[in-house]
Amino acid sequence: MNRYLVLLLLLSLHLNILALSSGPSWLSDAVIYQIYPSTFMDSDDDGIGDIKGVISRLDYVQNLGVNTLWFCPMFKSAWQDGGYDVTDFYNIDPRFGTNEDMRLLIKEAHQRGLKVCLDLVAGHTSDQHPWFKASSQRERNKYSDYYMWTDTIPDDERRTVERRHRTHDPAIATWGSYGMANAPRAKYYRKNYFEFQPALNYGYVNPDPNDPVQQAIDAPGPQAVRQELKSIMSYWMDMGADGFRIDMASSLIKNDTDKQENIKLWQGIRQWMDQHYPRCILIAEWSNPQQSLVAGFHVDFMIHFNLRGYDSLFFPHGAPDSGNYDYCYFDASGKGGIEAFVNNFSQAYNATRGIGYISIPTGNHDIIRHNYGTRNTMDQLKVCMLFHLTMPGVPCIYYGDEIGMKYTTGLSSKEGSGRRAGSRTPMQWSDSRNAGFSSCDPSKLYLPVDTEGGSLTVEAQDDDTNSLLNFTKRLLRLRHGQPALNNDGDWQMLSAIDRPYPFIYMREANGKRLIVAINPSAKKVKATIPCQQINGSSLIKTGDASYHKGKKEDKITLHGFSAAVFE
Ligand code: NOJ
Repeated sequence: MNRYLVLLLLLSLHLNILALSSGPSWLSDAVIYQIYPSTFMDSDDDGIGDIKGVISRLDYVQNLGVNTLWFCPMFKSAWQDGGYDVTDFYNIDPRFGTNEDMRLLIKEAHQRGLKVCLDLVAGHTSDQHPWFKASSQRERNKYSDYYMWTDTIPDDERRTVERRHRTHDPAIATWGSYGMANAPRAKYYRKNYFEFQPALNYGYVNPDPNDPVQQAIDAPGPQAVRQELKSIMSYWMDMGADGFRIDMASSLIKNDTDKQENIKLWQGIRQWMDQHYPRCILIAEWSNPQQSLVAGFHVDFMIHFNLRGYDSLFFPHGAPDSGNYDYCYFDASGKGGIEAFVNNFSQAYNATRGIGYISIPTGNHDIIRHNYGTRNTMDQLKVCMLFHLTMPGVPCIYYGDEIGMKYTTGLSSKEGSGRRAGSRTPMQWSDSRNAGFSSCDPSKLYLPVDTEGGSLTVEAQDDDTNSLLNFTKRLLRLRHGQPALNNDGDWQMLSAIDRPYPFIYMREANGKRLIVAINPSAKKVKATIPCQQINGSSLIKTGDASYHKGKKEDKITLHGFSAAVFE
């Protein structure tokens, strides 16, 4: 072996890069559409969405121009956290239908060229799961080591558990205590998120030999859990599912500060998938593409945990009247910055190109929708959409964002949602009863609808060539038709980081270059960039945007709330 090969091998071992395939080819043009199944379409008028309802809307989804569906959890659940508290991974929750309905959904989706990804909570279950109930028993049984139980936790942890019981604060402790009383087995169990979400036992890095709760990764319990995970995945992939979005993907192995063991675990799963299900994909909720994509995920969301990345684009920080209010970039005031996002994104992008894809979603079931506060006009939302659908990586549209559904304020918590309820309201189809989502009595609706006097519906926007819906469809058609704009096309920022408005970047493939310019502010803005080999006409635009070719430099002018792709 020559010196360079040895060096490369050592480097790849060091970086934990295994020889994984580059993933199925359909990924290079994939656009995800995320559905919260309880509120997409109700077929049996019980006020809650279901699989038959989704099937009846597949033509709409296909027509929109997306090609990959991701459904929030649909497995049997105790419904204390919107389905992220599973009680049976092998069966569809009766509220949505049956496993046979899911089989039909997959078939119908495939017939329309749509892939189906399910949401898999790999790191925890509900405390109502029969595995957890069995595990809580004193007598040893098959599930004893599926979870981590102990009577002794550090004093500060114990105080935190007690405080949580007083204040109902969900996420502040590592340990939970069963139903606030003692389980027969022990007093405390390791939890993953809310108290009713006990963590599955994938083992500890460097387990403390004096602490029996800490089992080694290769101990029988953690290995059985890993096997179970694969058998759940096989079950649904054998049915035809095209992959999974993995909830809290980096949380499985404990005490893993640098995530190296979680990375290895997923690399193992990916190798197994490449062998047995090469057409399928893994989408991470990890928010660290440098780790997740090396771990074998095909896609990772650049969203939570990465505070000054995604957040700096869409969420302001601090109180408006305080001295240190931090404007987000997509704010009408034009006082936001682009630096945090660009630094975060370009680092991740450069480090992971060719390994997998970053996804910058329009929203999701955990965060506030774009239509909120002062970002509330169709013109503003079109600028957001143009950004999302012209960036590299796999775009992800959260259901309803294509019609500008708004984040509804003032709702009570629904099934553990807390304030997330505002982003989980029923899809708004038409001006019929309950916006066409369900014919039930409005009092039975999962969450209320608000169509803003009828304009925020699919029906109304379908007929309006200027609507956000039709703009989104045009953008998607353009993206699918232009290799420079698809998931693999090159990306480079062209505007100056300290002059954030407009934000200008280029996309390029096969020698064809496109220039994208974005102005989410209300002000007219201009910028110059080095001369480009393009003719300067716009392929798509919203608002007033123009490109002037110069001898030494090219000049781009964007009126308030405008954006364009120039060729
Ligand atoms: C992330 C999910 O997106 C969120 O909805 C859920 O509450 C937590 N993980 C816990 O599973």
